[in-house]
Amino acid sequence: MKLGVLAVVALGIAAVAALALRPRDDGGGYDPYFRALNDLLKREGPARPVLILDLDRLDRNLDVVRRSIRPPKHFRVVAKSLPSIPLLRYVCERTGTKRVMSFHQPFLNQVAEQLADSDILLGKPLPVRSAAAFYAALRGNFDPSRQLQWLVDTPERLDEYLALAERLQQKMLINVEIDVGLHRGGVADTSTLDRLLAVIAAHPDRLELAGFMGYDPHVVKVPGWARRRASLIAEVRAAYRGYVEFARARYPQLWRDGMTLNGAGSPTYRLYEDDTLLNDLALGSALVKPTDFDIDTLEAHVPALFIATPVLKAGAATQLPGLDWLSRLLDWWNPNLARTFFVYGGYWMARPVAPAGLHTNPLFGRSSNQEMLNGSARVALGVDDYVFLRPTQSEAVMLQFGDILVVRGDAVVDHWAVLTQ
Ligand SMILES: Cc1ncc(COP(=O)(O)O)c(C=O)c1O
Repeated sequence: MKLGVLAVVALGIAAVAALALRPRDDGGGYDPYFRALNDLLKREGPARPVLILDLDRLDRNLDVVRRSIRPPKHFRVVAKSLPSIPLLRYVCERTGTKRVMSFHQPFLNQVAEQLADSDILLGKPLPVRSAAAFYAALRGNFDPSRQLQWLVDTPERLDEYLALAERLQQKMLINVEIDVGLHRGGVADTSTLDRLLAVIAAHPDRLELAGFMGYDPHVVKVPGWARRRASLIAEVRAAYRGYVEFARARYPQLWRDGMTLNGAGSPTYRLYEDDTLLNDLALGSALVKPTDFDIDTLEAHVPALFIATPVLKAGAATQLPGLDWLSRLLDWWNPNLARTFFVYGGYWMARPVAPAGLHTNPLFGRSSNQEMLNGSARVALGVDDYVFLRPTQSEAVMLQFGDILVVRGDAVVDHWAVLTQ
């Protein structure tokens, strides 16, 4: 008898706790922006998953960049994060830059061929055979001996590049990767830098020092409780200055005015507005602002890239196959399981953003064919409506949908091809 009472009390407490912990209903409709996009896509969209680039929003982001990166500093567009020739061309024209950062040999060849007057800096050191493949595939007027800076991180790699330059009877511009605190490789002491510069100085007919690259995203990624941002950026600048001063003092014959002193990226470029050393700041992702870039330094930027995918099936509460009792319990408990939608495709590196309150279902499982999304009874979404997602990053996601649908205002204005792998 006593046990029975205890059990009832325990059940009562569990029920009250479950009610108290019930997720709140976060469902909603489209806001006016996504409502207009949904209407547009239902009229003119491809009725399959598609990537939308909003040019008005891209322009706003480009304005922020233009206001922040002023002469004598130059803006360099990061090609891997915006992997489309028409998109890169648009960004270059609007910002008046020819400077591009490249990370992938097939993309490097496409940029060199189709944006033939660009000035390209590699963003990572490529294997020498990859460099050789670039020269073998090169077509058109692009002149690598003037327009391409290879990134070199070690004396061993420099020796390999020198051998390639000899074999090709080509001059190579060499940019030295320096470790300014990220610890992702690059030269980390002046004795290694000395070895590199000595090789360059000994082969003026084949190698030319073109500058330095020191990347620093850790400055905003290290949590504030662990390190102060101001002291991290001060360390980056001091390290950078140390390498530059060493090179100028020891190898004045290699030094030229206007050499490329590259640094920063989307997370940090705004921290260089008062800097007088670097003259070349690279960024790409912030121009379309995937969710990984929802950070305080990029508050002035707006998301400009979305995945849109049609709803194939719209149903009532979630039903987990073979687990009806669990489904009923969960549906009672969580108001955000009141409706079920199956969309065309899925499982992208992306988060649903419109209509509000859509969630993937970890119990049902993810699918890249037709993915289940759940929402509350307030999610007003029917078959053929579009669900909008924000990519978490741009580089891999942008290559998954074929041509990008380019919109401005409430119209589709173009289709832009993406680079091929
Ligand atoms: C060397 C270098 N510079 C700049 C960037 C910045 O690119 P994004 O602005 O797209 O983050 C990166 C990104 O990986 C990088 O590796």
